[in-house]
Amino acid sequence: MWGLIEISYGTMDNALNIFRGAVPLKVILKHNPVFKTNHGIRRMLHNALIYSLIRVKLKPFAPGYNLEHAKIAKAITGIPIISVGGFRKGAEMRGCLENGLVDFIGLSRPLICEPDLVEKLEQDGNYSAQCINCNICAIMCDSDQPTRCYQR
Ligand SMILES: Cc1cc2nc3c(=O)[nH]c(=O)nc-3n(C[C@H](O)[C@H](O)[C@H](O)COP(=O)(O)O)c2cc1C
Ligand code: SF4
Repeated sequence: MWGLIEISYGTMDNALNIFRGAVPLKVILKHNPVFKTNHGIRRMLHNALIYSLIRVKLKPFAPGYNLEHAKIAKAITGIPIISVGGFRKGAEMRGCLENGLVDFIGLSRPLICEPDLVEKLEQDGNYSAQCINCNICAIMCDSDQPTRCYQR
């Protein structure tokens, strides 16, 4: 029997952790089931309040932002480890793999943006993913709209 562990960190203890990059406030107010409203005053309140309420909990985007935890998991388990979170540049992914920091790299938003990204990386190992971390796809997955890249 064999398995893999993916070290991800999305919505667990803090649902806002999914925002690594932009917080698309207008899209949240229009599509999020909790915050969307047609009521003018409520809309103004949400607009004024949401960002000030959530900004203290926001974490910035950084390349490979879960990598440190993935490295710990690799050190203390004998199980192959996938690191996901903030991988965009082919050279960074290759460096992690070649240096044995983790066994696999996982991609979420970059593959939503470019489903053929793996082929692009195969053709050009220094390719950089086009995802700009606008996070609109992450908002839309809680709405009645499809999960897709909203920049392309
Ligand atoms: C559309 C979308 C939906 C996601 N849904 C969840 C979720 O339900 N639970 C969770 O823990 N993380 C969720 N994530 C976070 C991803 O699993 C992943 O950790 C994160 O996107 C970082 O990888 P990336 O930089 O390659 O996008 C979601 C991400 C996206 C883009
Ligand atoms: S909508 Fe597209 S560009 Fe924006 S975060 Fe999602 S995949 Fe990336």
